[in-house]
Amino acid sequence: VKVTYIEHDGKEHEIDGDDGLTVMEVAVKNSVPGIDADCGGACACATCHVYVDPSFSEKVGAPNDMEDSMLDFASDRRENSRLSCQIKLDAELEGLVVRLPKFQG
Ligand code: FES
Repeated sequence: VKVTYIEHDGKEHEIDGDDGLTVMEVAVKNSVPGIDADCGGACACATCHVYVDPSFSEKVGAPNDMEDSMLDFASDRRENSRLSCQIKLDAELEGLVVRLPKFQG
């Protein structure tokens, strides 16, 4: 599943991530800067915050309650904010584009 990560300064990283991995895991494995993921994917740190490209918001869906309250701790939360450890890749998300915030946590 191809995922493009765009850093806050516009630098793009296009990565082929395995089905079933999360958007956070693929970023960390491939050393994409800007995703800290301090809690390791437990939905408890908000340092894996990303902005989902509007063309994918529907497919990615809305955060659940736990993620929603965690997102309040993310810096500069926006309408398309998600925690990348809570987005699992599957064929539906082929070509996903996410943008990274300037600061995490
Ligand atoms: Fe901590 Fe996603 S890695 S909330």
